[in-house]
Amino acid sequence: MNNRWIAALSPSALVALTALVASPALYAEGSDQEAMAAAGAAVFHQCEACHTLDPAKNGFGPNLHGVVGREAGTVPRFAYSDALKNSGLTWNEENLRKWVADNEALVPGTRMRHVSVTDPVEQDYLIAFLKSLN
Ligand code: HEC
Repeated sequence: MNNRWIAALSPSALVALTALVASPALYAEGSDQEAMAAAGAAVFHQCEACHTLDPAKNGFGPNLHGVVGREAGTVPRFAYSDALKNSGLTWNEENLRKWVADNEALVPGTRMRHVSVTDPVEQDYLIAFLKSLN
């Protein structure tokens, strides 16, 4: 954007433009969710050694297709630890945040290797990504 172009804009157009850019409603649009999910896919790289996204397959860990809102320990044909099976947890956002921040603190005795995604922004991205799979 060069200065001549800015000078050509009327002040009211500038105000309208500023309002548009600053509007929080815009950030809630679908495209933003997609951008968050894409960023979450990058965070998910540290999970995919063990977790497939194919609903028909389990890896070393259970598949995570549709995990948001699911009861813990309920994917068929996956040998969960008793600790996770009996945890009584549902994978809502709050529990997922606790799980990726420190899974062993949330479910002592889990078989999942310790992970530590503690940055709330990374957690947001990861959850947006997992939701996009539902
Ligand atoms: C080293 C392998 C490994 C890595 C890496 C790993 N997981 Fe897991 N994950 C597992 C195993 C094994 C289980 C089952 C744990 C149990 O039964 O106690 C599990 C369970 C889970 C569950 C519970 C699923 C259910 O059906 O109840 C979620 C959610 C999950 N992992 C998310 C993640 C996320 C997100 C990451 C990356 C930040 C990750 N995992 C990284 C192996 C792994």
